Amino acid sequence: MYKIIQEGKAKIKVPKAYKISKELPVFYNPVMEFNRTVSVLLLKVIGKKMKIGLPLGGSGVRAVRFLKELPKSKIKEVWINDINKEAVKIIKENLRLNKVKAKVVNKDANMFLLESSGFDYIDIDPFGSPNIFLDSAVKRIGRGGVLAVTATDTGCLAGSYVKACKRKYWSNPVKNENMHENGLRILIRKVQLIGADHSKALIPIYSYFKDHYFRIFFRCEKGKQKVDVLLKKHGMLGKAGPLWLGELWDKKVAAGIAKLSDDKFLHTIDREAKIDAVGFYNIPWLVKKYKLKQLKQKDIINKIKKKHYKVAETHFACNSLRSDIDLKKMIKLF
Ligand SMILES: C[S@@+](CC[C@H](N)C(=O)[O-])C[C@H]1O[C@@H](n2cnc3c(N)ncnc32)[C@H](O)[C@@H]1O
Repeated sequence: MYKIIQEGKAKIKVPKAYKISKELPVFYNPVMEFNRTVSVLLLKVIGKKMKIGLPLGGSGVRAVRFLKELPKSKIKEVWINDINKEAVKIIKENLRLNKVKAKVVNKDANMFLLESSGFDYIDIDPFGSPNIFLDSAVKRIGRGGVLAVTATDTGCLAGSYVKACKRKYWSNPVKNENMHENGLRILIRKVQLIGADHSKALIPIYSYFKDHYFRIFFRCEKGKQKVDVLLKKHGMLGKAGPLWLGELWDKKVAAGIAKLSDDKFLHTIDREAKIDAVGFYNIPWLVKKYKLKQLKQKDIINKIKKKHYKVAETHFACNSLRSDIDLKKMIKLF
């Protein structure tokens, strides 16, 4: 049983569902509308005309939104693939329903990628971990292209399943206040290591944690030296890691995305992207650990600013601040 829904500028035929699960005849998750909206915004901000590859197409909603919401000057071709025959049937119907054109393929995602001549944008949006698709995606992403990766195995990356994280992401996660930023950084390093195998430097240009998933957009640059520079930014953060210690955002991309939207979350990211600091201060944790006086968040922010440090709320957690002030000075301010 299907119904027609509207998402962005797309009309999409999706299964009627009381529960979103991978058992659906064709997968569509309304919670991921935000994930797709950010992809549209990012592609608007990136200057290039792109050949787009969606190896895990689902209902085709992402592709239809790209075709309807991006200026024609941004798209060379859109290729949508899914292993599920029913999904491919619905993708074709959704393309017709929206009067847009794309190439539709019904293969295993790795075969789809490896048999292609390559893409300028590849979106890995799997059930759970992206791991099994990373090698072929990295092989087929072009110079200057963007590789987008979603991971929904949040528990593993954020420290609930330590052994699984070590096995799958070659890193030790720690379940603490910073666990979601650490998890994102562990995932970034893993993707970069796969990139290193192919002499491709994968530089995060926009990343975030939301709801139940991690999301990263990497710009792909080629060359052994560029890879070596990235690898120098892998290290430990306390007991967590190894993980990526470099920037999570390209400041211009974060500002460009915020400019196109009035979404609070995207504006929070834009503000925190301006601060070069790894990790953030969770205020209740700080107060409890160092037995400090409870202050209002607004007052702490003012005190930090008065000392001429940068500070902003972080999208990772509430009651938490990203700042370039060091821990000792931060404690003194209380
Ligand atoms: C999370 S859904 C993708 C959702 C879609 N990208 C969207 O934005 O709505 C994952 C999709 O991958 C497909 N899939 C799973 N394993 C696959 C494989 N090995 N090759 C190709 N498609 C696969 C599933 O049928 C499902 O449609």
